[in-house]
Amino acid sequence: MITETAPAKINLTLHVTGQRSDGYHLLDSLVVFADIGDQITASPASGLSLRVDGPFAAGLEGDDNLVLQAARFLGPQRKARITLTKNLPVASGIGGGSADAAAALRALSRLWDVPLPQDVAALGADVPACVHGKPLRLQGIGDRISPLPTLPALDILLVNPGVSVSTPAIFKALTQKAHPPMPEVLPDWPDAANFAGWLARQRNDLAAPAMQLAPEIDAVLHRLRASNCLFAGMSGSGATCFALFLPDGYSAKAAQAQIAAETPDWWAAAGKVN
Ligand code: C5P
Repeated sequence: MITETAPAKINLTLHVTGQRSDGYHLLDSLVVFADIGDQITASPASGLSLRVDGPFAAGLEGDDNLVLQAARFLGPQRKARITLTKNLPVASGIGGGSADAAAALRALSRLWDVPLPQDVAALGADVPACVHGKPLRLQGIGDRISPLPTLPALDILLVNPGVSVSTPAIFKALTQKAHPPMPEVLPDWPDAANFAGWLARQRNDLAAPAMQLAPEIDAVLHRLRASNCLFAGMSGSGATCFALFLPDGYSAKAAQAQIAAETPDWWAAAGKVN
């Protein structure tokens, strides 16, 4: 049996720089991954099947699950018994289905001993980034990836208020379609505080439309900013927000425990930025 993790993808910045004639938006985003995620296992079998368990499994076992699409994409006639343990909230701006598809590709390429395909964007705009799995700058419609050098070490807290958000609806609600990109050449960040200070001068252009459709996001950001984090923002099209902490292995967990006690309906998970 082969096991792979599907780490949460976090957009530390998300600049929407334009829109293509087919409706897709042009993005410029700094993306990292956390050691918080879903899990995929794959074993030999006589057919292709998917079983989903874990706290957010409800309704995900259908034939259209991106994990099964990824399996058919990698080996159209091949077989495997796949399980997905869904620890991350769905439709929540942290990769979800794309992270699971990428982990399925990794697991099945090992099980079937076939190479990972070069171009996996057909499975979803975020899948190439999730296959990369390390800090990167995302451009184009999310399909152009530039690896980033190692970032300062950081701990992270992810919080979701329990509302799922439709990505197409958020993009549709964006009134201004073209905002400035990040600087063409990104600076060097000598330490976590310097990096957080730089992030505070960047944007997530989807935050305003997301807060209009899901006002709970504003409450989450307020609560995170009241912790002793270095920086807090919203990931992707929301509703999951993140807070970055010094990598002391303690502060992010302490904030998580407090938030879990105050607002037990919110999902909160602490870990490290990879
Ligand atoms: O690729 P994914 O399935 O995550 O995208 C969901 C939807 O988000 C797309 O159908 C599109 O409406 C919107 N989108 C966009 N521009 C992007 C990525 C997604 O408008 N770069």
